[in-house]
Amino acid sequence: MIGETRVMLEHAGDPEQRTLAGYRKHGGYQALAKALREMKPEEVTEEVLKSGLRGRGGAGFPTGRKWKFVPKTTKRKYIAVNADESEPGTCKDRQIMENDPHQLIEGTLLAAYAIGAETCYIYVRGEYPHSIAALENALDEARGAGLVGRDIMGSGFSCDIWVHPGAGAYICGEETALLTSLEGNRGYPRLRPPFPAVEGLWKSPTVVNNVETLSCVTHILRRGAAWFSSLGCEGSTGTRLFCISGHVKNPGVYELECGKFTLRELLMDLAGGTPSGRPIKGVLPGGSSMPVLTEAELDVRFDLDSIAKAGSSLGSGAIMVFDDSVSAVDVALNISQFYSHESCGQCTPCREGSDWVRLMLDAVRRGEAKTKDVALLLDVLDRIEGNTICALAEAFCWPVRSFVRKFGAEFEAHVAGRASA
Ligand SMILES: Cc1cc2nc3c(=O)[nH]c(=O)nc-3n(C[C@H](O)[C@H](O)[C@H](O)COP(=O)(O)O)c2cc1C
Ligand code: SF4
Repeated sequence: MIGETRVMLEHAGDPEQRTLAGYRKHGGYQALAKALREMKPEEVTEEVLKSGLRGRGGAGFPTGRKWKFVPKTTKRKYIAVNADESEPGTCKDRQIMENDPHQLIEGTLLAAYAIGAETCYIYVRGEYPHSIAALENALDEARGAGLVGRDIMGSGFSCDIWVHPGAGAYICGEETALLTSLEGNRGYPRLRPPFPAVEGLWKSPTVVNNVETLSCVTHILRRGAAWFSSLGCEGSTGTRLFCISGHVKNPGVYELECGKFTLRELLMDLAGGTPSGRPIKGVLPGGSSMPVLTEAELDVRFDLDSIAKAGSSLGSGAIMVFDDSVSAVDVALNISQFYSHESCGQCTPCREGSDWVRLMLDAVRRGEAKTKDVALLLDVLDRIEGNTICALAEAFCWPVRSFVRKFGAEFEAHVAGRASA
């Protein structure tokens, strides 16, 4: 039987945990006190590096390594917390912000101390009013107690944190678009390099980390890197939040250790299989921007590296399941509709390509495409990928290509007029 290991969500059911007093009852802000009293900033980074923590925002980049890219300059430095949570199917960061906001604030302060930042912004998805309110309340309390602001705990370290609501654009979750938006401009992504850690907000070094990533930092500093890396498996240490949705009996957000079970065990045991009893047809294991895995591929071990070897990714931790009543062409079309709507329009291959892909899939679905159009579709996807400023283009190329390759017979049936639209 697969069970949860609750670290970040350990006290999520207790309303008192949202308050400073409740958070302190369970050891809150002790990690920060210890770091400010006993550790040099570099030692905080080393501890995070040793823990094996990898980013929970989507790309899985090692957090300690990212922090090490920050140059040792006298320039101002910033932390930008990515709380945009915009990837379809993803609803985990809000669990942290609404149920236990102080663990995010503590992790953010630890990251700020490690890189020498005195200003942090939490960029929260605009559609999350409850998260914004919970964070504002927690910050008010933390400021009042001298935990945020000038001379924190009498240590000489000063740092303020501001909540910045987004305005509903998916692209503002992409780290460079998030920074452009924070600067007060339209949320356009920027070319990298330079990476934000070197040149971010107002051209100053800026670490962008996801809400869950920074919440893990709190627990790493509280209980040590060795404890954290004893959870999960090599390459996927600690616990991770997964949002399971779609055709499963028990959808929800689960905190799990990776590497202990297969994807099939997760879906059949914890998620309870499909409500209808019909077979699972496919799974998007890391949000709508990741390649689909078919029923035949579900015996893969459930961790970052194994899922990557199987040709997909754990991405943002959103596992979306559909049974065999669902048309693969419909899912591919639905995904392309989302991304063509959300393209910011800066790059021709993404702006024009996403719309062309959407129109072509719509033609396939209506039985109005020709056999050669399916090959043309794959060819166009190859030309889009890798030729744009940011990875939104990959975010629709990867899943659409995987659907065409893995469910080719369905696409052919539509083209041949053998499937109803
Ligand atoms: C189109 C697009 C949308 C993204 N949306 C989010 C998001 O909503 N939340 C998030 O944390 N990361 C998102 N990311 C990933 C960020 O760019 C970045 O990698 C992440 O915030 C880094 O944090 P981490 O190292 O803690 O994972 C997105 C990336 C792309 C390409
Ligand atoms: S790839 Fe798409 S979303 Fe990203 S910058 Fe280019 S047009 Fe904008």
